[in-house]
Amino acid sequence: MPPVPDMLVRLLVASVLLGAASGAFTPADTYLVLCGTSASATVAAGRTFVGDARLPAKSLAAPQSVEANTSLTAVVPSGESQLYRSARVFTAPASYTFAVKQPGRHFVRLHFFPFPYRSYDMAADAAFNVSVQGAVLVNGYAPKNGTAELREFSLNVTGATLVIAFAPTGKLAFVNAIEVVSVPDELIADTARMVGGAVQYTGLSTQALETIHRINMGVPKITPGNDTLGRTWLPDQSFQLNTNLAQHKDAKPLTIKYDEKSALSSAYTAPAEVYATATRLSTAGETSTINVQFNISWRFDAPAGSDYLLRFHWCDIVSKAAMGMAFNVYVGGSVVLENYEISRDTFNRLSIPVYKDFLLGAKDAKGAITVSIGSSTEDNALPDGFLNGLEIMRVVGSAGAGAPAASARSSKVKIGIIAGSAVCGATLVMVLGFIAFRTLRGREPEKKQPSDTWSPFSASALGSRSRSRSFSKSNGNTVLLGQNGAGAGYRIPFAALQEATDGFDEAMVIGEGGFGKVYKGTMRDETLVAVKRGNRRTQQGLHEFHTEIEMLSRLRHRHLVSLIGYCDERGEMILVYEYMAMGTLRSHLYGAGLPPLSWEQRLEACIGAARGLHYLHTGSAKAIIHRDVKSANILLDESFMAKVADFGLSKNGPELDKTHVSTKVKGSFGYLDPEYFRRQMLTEKSDVYSFGVVLLEVLCARTVIDPTLPREMVSLAEWATPCLRNGRLDQIVDQRIAGTIRPGSLKKLADTAEKCLAEYGVERPTMGDVLWCLEFALQLQVGSSDGSDVDTMLPPAPPVPVKTPEVQRSLSAATMATDAAAMTTNLGDLDGMSLSGVFSKMIKSDEVR
Ligand SMILES: *[C@@H]1O[C@H](CO)[C@@H](O)[C@H](O)[C@H]1NC(C)=O
Ligand SMILES: *[C@@H]1O[C@H](CO)[C@@H](O)[C@H](O)[C@H]1NC(C)=O
Ligand SMILES: *[C@@H]1O[C@H](CO)[C@@H](O)[C@H](O)[C@H]1NC(C)=O
Ligand SMILES: *[C@@H]1O[C@H](CO)[C@@H](O)[C@H](O)[C@H]1NC(C)=O
Ligand SMILES: *[C@@H]1O[C@H](CO)[C@@H](O)[C@H](O)[C@H]1NC(C)=O
Ligand SMILES: *[C@@H]1O[C@H](CO)[C@@H](O)[C@H](O)[C@H]1NC(C)=O
Repeated sequence: MPPVPDMLVRLLVASVLLGAASGAFTPADTYLVLCGTSASATVAAGRTFVGDARLPAKSLAAPQSVEANTSLTAVVPSGESQLYRSARVFTAPASYTFAVKQPGRHFVRLHFFPFPYRSYDMAADAAFNVSVQGAVLVNGYAPKNGTAELREFSLNVTGATLVIAFAPTGKLAFVNAIEVVSVPDELIADTARMVGGAVQYTGLSTQALETIHRINMGVPKITPGNDTLGRTWLPDQSFQLNTNLAQHKDAKPLTIKYDEKSALSSAYTAPAEVYATATRLSTAGETSTINVQFNISWRFDAPAGSDYLLRFHWCDIVSKAAMGMAFNVYVGGSVVLENYEISRDTFNRLSIPVYKDFLLGAKDAKGAITVSIGSSTEDNALPDGFLNGLEIMRVVGSAGAGAPAASARSSKVKIGIIAGSAVCGATLVMVLGFIAFRTLRGREPEKKQPSDTWSPFSASALGSRSRSRSFSKSNGNTVLLGQNGAGAGYRIPFAALQEATDGFDEAMVIGEGGFGKVYKGTMRDETLVAVKRGNRRTQQGLHEFHTEIEMLSRLRHRHLVSLIGYCDERGEMILVYEYMAMGTLRSHLYGAGLPPLSWEQRLEACIGAARGLHYLHTGSAKAIIHRDVKSANILLDESFMAKVADFGLSKNGPELDKTHVSTKVKGSFGYLDPEYFRRQMLTEKSDVYSFGVVLLEVLCARTVIDPTLPREMVSLAEWATPCLRNGRLDQIVDQRIAGTIRPGSLKKLADTAEKCLAEYGVERPTMGDVLWCLEFALQLQVGSSDGSDVDTMLPPAPPVPVKTPEVQRSLSAATMATDAAAMTTNLGDLDGMSLSGVFSKMIKSDEVR
C-alpha cells in the first residue's frame, strides 16, 4: 500500500492535469475503485484505483461477497491490465454507494474480466443485472470467457448518493473495477435532431446513455490517460466498408483551436488528438471530375431495440480555405446533413472543432448502424468530405428490448414536431427553398467550370493531347475537363467562338477594357458565354493571358466568375467566361438608369463579393490580391448573386510588375489604398480598402470620383468618411431606399465601411471579418433583433445561432425568429448556387477617365 500522501499527490496531479487539459473542468466527484482487494493500482497518467476493501463500510453492502484474484492476464491493449487481477464476486444482491458532491451527469464505468476462482467460475456462472437509480444499465450480462470488457455509461445523478446495484440473475455476479467521475453538464444536451425527420428528440438530459462506439477517425487509439475525460477512442479502420475510398489526414493537435465562447465544442467534448486526425474521401482533390458521387461508409454493430445518440465530430484540418467544401452525411439510408459546410458553423475559420448530435430511433437500428460521408449533390462540387470522430451511444431503457424497468423513464421522452411558428416557418422556407432549388437545377443548363487541378500549360496539355471539346449537351453530368481523369487542357476552337459571336459582330459587344472587347456569345447548346478577345498578341498581353488562365484554372469558387475555356489558335488570346446576366453591381447602383437594388439585395451582393475575395486571400497557399476591387468588377447573375471578376489580369501572382501596377494606379483611382499609393506596399488589406469604397457606393449610390461636384465632394471616400465617423448617415445614404433600411443594419454597414477605410492596413479587418459583419448587417435587416446592442466589430458570438444542442435548448422564441431569418438568408445563397450556371455578361467599364 503506497503511503497516503503519495497517493493524494498523484490524485491531485491527475486532477490538475485533467483540469488544465479540459479548459478548467475539474470533476467534483472522482471515484476509482479496484474490486475484491485491499491493494491499489496506478494505471496510465497517474490514475490510481483504490481497493474496495478500504472503502468505508457503508460504501459496500455485500452480505455474500468473495474477494477473488487471479494470475491470468486479461488482454487489454490500453495497459490497464492491472485492473483485471482481482474481482468481487456476489452470490446475492449487493451494492456500492458513492457520496455525490455535485449532482449532474457522471460517467459510470464498469470493468469486467471473468476468471475462475476456487469454486466460482465467473465465465461459466455469471449472469446478472446492474442498475442505477432504477435504470437497468446492464441487463442479464453474461461475460465472454477470456475477454475483458469495459462498459461505460453516463447518467444524470439527481440525489446525494449514487447506488450501483448488482443482482445475480444466474449463479453469481462480479465486477473488477468501477469508475464514477463527474462530467461537464454541457456534455450531453437535452435535445437532438431525429434521423429521417424534422422532429426533435427531447429529454436526453434525464436519460442514461451507454457508449457503444467511440471512434477517432484516422489513428491513433486514444487511451484514458490522454483524454480530457478519461475516455477511450478507437481508430476507425476496422469499421470502414470501402477502405479504398478512405484517406488518412492529420494535423498537429496544437493547431486545434476550440471556440468555447460560441459553444461549438470544447476540449472535453473531445480532445485535440481526435480533432487533429480525420478520414477523408480519397478521391478528394485527386480528380478533376465534378458531380461524381462517392461515399465512404462505416458499419457499427449496435444491439437492436434501442434508440441511439450519434455524435459527429468535425474539425476542418484538411482545407486550405475555410470555404467551399460541402458534403452530405448519412445515417442508415437517411441524409442527416445535406451539402454541409463546416465553415458556416465555424464562421469561416479552419481548425475549429464542431460536433453535431442526431438521434436514431429504435425502429431504424436493426443490429448495425451504417454511417456515410458522401460528396455533395450540389452542382460543381468536387467529391470531398471527411469526419474526425464519431460516438454512438445507446439510450438506456429507450424503447429498449427487455428493459421494462426503464419504461417509466422513457415515458419522459417526448418526440414531437418542433413547436413554434418561427421554426415552422423556417422549416417551411427551407423545404420550399429546397424544392425550388431542385426544380431550378433540373432546368438549368449544364455546368462548365474548370477544376482546380487543371493546368492548361502542362506539357501534355500543350502537346498531343491539346484536344478540343465540343459543347455538345450530353448526359447532364458533364465533366468539363479531363475526360481521362488527368485534366486535358480545355481549348475551344476559334471557329466555335466565331459562330457563337456571329463572327465577333460589334452588335454583340457588351463591354470593353484595356485588354480588348467582350462579346456576348451563344454556344451551339445555347449556353450563354462572355467572350473576351484580347488585342493582337504583344509580349505583355501574352503574359497576362497566361496568368489569367493559370490563375482562373487554379481558383474555383462560386463567388468568382469562372473561366469556361480559352482559345489561342492563330495568335488569338480569347478567354471565355460564364455569362453574368445582370451585369455589374455598379450599373444597379447608379449611372445606368436601372431601378435601385433593395438594401437586402445590396447586402447580399456585398456578401457574395466578400466571399469571393476572402477565398482569393485565403484559398491557396499564397494569398492572391485582386488589386482592382470595384463595383464594376462585381458581376451579378440573374438572381443577383454576386461574383468577383477580372482578377487574372489585374494582378499577376507573387511577383510585382511595376509598370502594370502604375497603370492600375490610374485605372482605379478613387478605390486606391492610400498606404499602397504612398509606400508601394501591396497586401490583402489593399483589397479591403477598395472593398470599403464599394461599400460606400452601395450606401450612397454615387460614383467614387465625380469631378463635377464641389471640391470636398469629388472623392466619395473623402466626402463620406466624416459622416461615417459622426454618424450623420442620413446625409449620405441613398435617398431612394433610405426609408427601408433598418437603423441597426445601416449602422453596421457604415461601421464596416469605416473600418475597411482605415488609414493603415493593419487597422483594417480581414475579408473574413468583413464578411462576418456584412452577414450580421443582413441579419439586422431581415431578422428580429434591432442590433441596438451591437457596436463592436466582432461581437462574441456568431449571428446565426449555432445549432449545437446546447444552444438549441436555450433558444427563446425571439432567437428562433432570428434563426428563421438566418435560414432565409442561407436560402438566398442556395438559390444563388443553383443559378450560378446561368451565364452572364462581362462588362469592363473604365471607372475613371
Ligand atoms: C491471491 O491473493 C492471495 C492473498 O493475498 C495470495 O496469497 C495469492 O497468491 C493470490 N493469487 C494470485 C493468483 O495472485
Ligand atoms: C475459459 O477458457 C479457458 C482457457 O481457454 C478454459 O480452460 C475454460 O474451461 C474456459 N471456461 C469456460 C467456462 O468456457
Ligand atoms: C439532470 O436532470 C435534471 C432534472 O431531473 C435537470 O434539471 C438537469 O438539467 C439535468 N442535468 C444534466 C446535466 O443534464
Ligand atoms: C499520450 O500521448 C503522448 C503523445 O502523443 C504519448 O507519448 C503517450 O504515450 C500517451 N499516453 C497514453 C497514456 O496513451
Ligand atoms: C451514399 O450513401 C447514401 C446512404 O447510404 C446513399 O443513399 C447514396 O446513394 C450513396 N451514394 C453513393 C454514390 O453510393
Ligand atoms: C434484471 O432486469 C430485467 C429486465 O430489466 C428484469 O426483468 C429482471 O427482473 C431483473 N432481474 C433481477 C434479478 O433484478
